[in-house]
Amino acid sequence: MSEATARELLRALAEAGRPWPAPVEHHERIGSTNDRARALAREGAPEWSVVLADEQASGRGRSGRRWHSAGGDLFLSVLLRPQIPPELIGLLPLAAGVAVAEALRPFGVEARLKWPNDVTAGGRKLAGILTEAISEGPAVEAVVIGVGVNLALEPSSLGGELASLATSLRTETGRDPGPLAAAAGVLTRLAVCYDRLTRGGAAELLPAWKALALPWWGRRVQVRSGGRLLTGLAEDVDARGALVLRGDDGARLTVLAGDARELRPGPEGTWASS
Ligand code: BTN
Repeated sequence: MSEATARELLRALAEAGRPWPAPVEHHERIGSTNDRARALAREGAPEWSVVLADEQASGRGRSGRRWHSAGGDLFLSVLLRPQIPPELIGLLPLAAGVAVAEALRPFGVEARLKWPNDVTAGGRKLAGILTEAISEGPAVEAVVIGVGVNLALEPSSLGGELASLATSLRTETGRDPGPLAAAAGVLTRLAVCYDRLTRGGAAELLPAWKALALPWWGRRVQVRSGGRLLTGLAEDVDARGALVLRGDDGARLTVLAGDARELRPGPEGTWASS
């Protein structure tokens, strides 16, 4: 653990006008920052506690996937204890997406959100967010928001299919700000977006999300959700953060969570992912 790095991040946050209200932990190497933040939640750590790592041995992505976590990129988790109506909890992943996209744009990249909260640039994945709720019975006791941003990553180092699906700030702009400056930006915007959500609810958050989202409206998309594959025209995102599709039979489908991709017309009436 490096206390100097944690202090440096706290100083950067204070200089950005956001004196941080909770402890920051920095690890040179850890299993997963989300796992550490979950442990902190169980130990009673305060809201906004932060876990930052240079590398993760077992970084986790959505849907049980691995998250490549070598040095030079950003790996960060934040602990929240949301005192908000249950319907707003489902919007936290979208709020986190807005925060990360807004934090990365000043570094010169045109970050866009792919529902629900993948951060993309030029059609490739730039950052991912893993939001995990810790519940006590029906009540959500805490939420951990884990953010991974490809800063220095050389996509070809991922090998296989991933190499063509990922990008990084360095690939897009020729430079990267380093994990500390990126962490300060992400945390600052996360605090702003959380305020937006808790004060203004969906009415305030969704326009901000849509302004950054890929313009899928009216286009054909496919969503893998809990073992089901759903296809339809993207119509909207509703007040719960669910993707609204119009199925081929005209039925309205709402999908609360899943992995989505746009389909483009292929040869002879087929559809291919873009
Ligand atoms: C995704 O699949 O898109 C989500 C990726 C989330 C990765 C981050 S890296 C920091 C935090 N710790 C983890 O183990 N995962 C998240």
